[in-house]
Amino acid sequence: MSAEASPDLFELAWRGGATEARLHRRRPGIDELPWGSIDLAAYDAAYLLEARRVWSHGVFTEYASAAAFSALTTAMMECGAPVDLVAASGDIVVDELFHVELSSRLVMELGGAIPIAFDLANIAPAPSAARPLLRAAEIALVTSCVGESLSVPAIARSRMLAREPLARGVLDRLLVDEGPHARLGFWFLGWASARLSDAERAALATMALDAIEVYAPLWQAPCDACPAPTAIAGTDAIGKADMRDAVIHLIARPLARFGIELDGLRLAGLVA
Ligand SMILES: [Fe+2]
Ligand SMILES: [Fe+2]
Repeated sequence: MSAEASPDLFELAWRGGATEARLHRRRPGIDELPWGSIDLAAYDAAYLLEARRVWSHGVFTEYASAAAFSALTTAMMECGAPVDLVAASGDIVVDELFHVELSSRLVMELGGAIPIAFDLANIAPAPSAARPLLRAAEIALVTSCVGESLSVPAIARSRMLAREPLARGVLDRLLVDEGPHARLGFWFLGWASARLSDAERAALATMALDAIEVYAPLWQAPCDACPAPTAIAGTDAIGKADMRDAVIHLIARPLARFGIELDGLRLAGLVA
């Protein structure tokens, strides 16, 4: 990716040297992946273009996740959350930045990224006037309890379908990390829920449904490129069913245990 950041195009820079070495000491293994092993001539142009689109979008979502966990880390410090929990959130920021590196290198192997128009000034969760505890709960809910809980089944299905060893290696690495990313929000609610009011828990329930609705096209919309380029990237009908299942079993039911009860009718409509 480019070394120059432009205000309206999503581009990444890389410094190298001591900072790269530090990241790879903390997150080893990237050089052992089978870089250079994809025979691009084995795929037709449309298939490869779609794989580049999927992985380019993946780079962007990894970067946005890093920004969201960074905001969550700050919000948790502002409400006095347990120090080890805050440390886990800060560490997840580095996981996500490592995922950015993995996904970027993969998309470069495929021929480069597809341009994504986005102003990085808007990459973090929108500012909120909520008190710090509720602010942290909002970000934990949307980013971890909803977003990461949906990425686990999506990545798992992509991994199962992938045929390219490099794609499998990258997806394996993402999958190992995403489980704890999805649990962090519930760990936070385990500490915070008794400190939230009934009205705040009701507002969080609506926010969870709004967040699920944003993701719903992933399992509801007819796909633009069928079949997906699953040897390298992408999911299928089973992956979409797994995401619907995750909405109920990995999001709605665990949230209810913390007094965040999602409206049943609206929920049923979203997973229909
Ligand atoms: Fe990630
Ligand atoms: Fe993640």
